[in-house]
Amino acid sequence: MKFENRLVLSAMAGINNAEFCNRQKASLVILGGFNADKNSMDAARAVVARGRKEFVFDDPLLGIEMELRKIRKNFAVNVRSSTLEGYLETAKLVDSYGGIIEINAHCRQPEFVLARCGEWLLFNPEKLFEIVEKVSRIAITAVKLRGGHRIDYERLCTKLFEKGCSALHIDAMIPNGGCDLFLLQRVSKIGFTIGNNSFVDRESGERMIRSGAKMVSAARAVLRDANFFEKMLESRILSEPVVMETKTVNWS
Ligand SMILES: Cc1cc2nc3c(=O)[nH]c(=O)nc-3n(C[C@H](O)[C@H](O)[C@H](O)COP(=O)(O)O)c2cc1C
Repeated sequence: MKFENRLVLSAMAGINNAEFCNRQKASLVILGGFNADKNSMDAARAVVARGRKEFVFDDPLLGIEMELRKIRKNFAVNVRSSTLEGYLETAKLVDSYGGIIEINAHCRQPEFVLARCGEWLLFNPEKLFEIVEKVSRIAITAVKLRGGHRIDYERLCTKLFEKGCSALHIDAMIPNGGCDLFLLQRVSKIGFTIGNNSFVDRESGERMIRSGAKMVSAARAVLRDANFFEKMLESRILSEPVVMETKTVNWS
């Protein structure tokens, strides 16, 4: 898969719909986070009830499809689900529109963790491996991970690539602020990574690329400045094209 620059719009639940994504100059936009089954959607309703934004749809898959019909760019869909079925159905849908499925092993809102999605998967890697193995037979697969935990990230990431991941999206957050470039450097030796956290200007983005990430993603900076990606394209490094080797394994 070819991308015309190294810039990625990172998922923002309740914000990254097709209309918002289509406006961005990033070569890859991540729709969602969406919720693919009843339990994860109930968790989203509970999160909304305490004042956070989420996409809430009566029919989760139809809600996702309505956005896919409108997207006009290279895209991924960031998704949470309590069931394997939810990931598989989303993968079929995303693949039929030519996108990437991004399994959310990142979200730490307690409602989602209780529903066995988001960060729960980081601490239950066997479940995550099973999801990736099966989903990657259907669609190009990425996993969004959060750094900052006492986890053997190199081991985890090696296994995720073996199971069929084409890319890992690493929120290399340092608990008290900033980006763990050393984590990015180690994981990027294993496979294609999108570096994330605190990409706020050209220098911070270029640092992540120099650490080995092939692409860099931003979320909060885009909320602060609607022209963020346009400005980042003034960087020679960030505006370079990049190719992601994709692995969609058809084992049937
Ligand atoms: C309003 C908001 C909603 C978010 N929703 C999601 C989400 O649904 N899924 C996800 O993987 N990350 C989500 N994130 C995390 C971002 O994608 C990103 O990893 C994080 O904000 C760090 O990147 P930044 O420093 O560029 O903001 C969200 C962030 C924000 C600010």
